[in-house]
Amino acid sequence: MIIKNAEYVTSIVHKKLFEGEVPEIAIAGRSNVGKSSFINMLTNRKKLARSSSEPGRTRMLNYFSINNGEFFLVDLPGYGYAKVTDKERNSWKGLIEYYLQESKNLKFVFLIVDVRHEPSELDLQLAEYLKYYAIPYVLVATKADKLSKAACKGALATLAKGFSVAAENILLVSSLTGTGRDAVLSAISANL
Ligand code: GTP
Ligand code: MG
Repeated sequence: MIIKNAEYVTSIVHKKLFEGEVPEIAIAGRSNVGKSSFINMLTNRKKLARSSSEPGRTRMLNYFSINNGEFFLVDLPGYGYAKVTDKERNSWKGLIEYYLQESKNLKFVFLIVDVRHEPSELDLQLAEYLKYYAIPYVLVATKADKLSKAACKGALATLAKGFSVAAENILLVSSLTGTGRDAVLSAISANL
């Protein structure tokens, strides 16, 4: 897989999905874990998806077209952000679940976690949800640049145990350095 170009398509706030035939890959994970940065790293674009050190930045479903409609990357709002009202939290959860249920073109989900942290209850719930609805997903541990190589290895083992998968099945990436980008592109080719 080579990403030649990428462009913003649209954002969805309400329960009406983008229609069409383009296959979609959704990017899910906790707030501030690095979902938008992951999209920027993949597309070699610094500001395609808005990233921020302030959690809760992405509040809508944002669609990005890759290679003029070969597929869409869909940036989902992050979950688990404490400083929002229950109303907001429920509306985001509703939007994410609505998307996962209703999108006809969803091929698989990249479930992003921070390599430094054990999976949260919400990460595990999402993984269970995806399994239950038979939506394929690929686990990505990001922010690899924050740990030494040895520490990454240990952290991957912890994550693998938490998600009950083999450590080899978790892609280790850094959106800062581009580590793991090739493996992510291979996963896209394999799952699209
Ligand atoms: P929400 O939209 O709020 O859910 O956040 P997000 O998951 O889209 O995270 P975002 O990409 O905005 O990144 C959050 C913060 O983490 C920003 O300050 C990023 O610069 C930083 N960040 C993201 N990925 C990496 C990474 O691989 N390495 C390092 N060192 N920092 C990262
Ligand atoms: Mg974001």
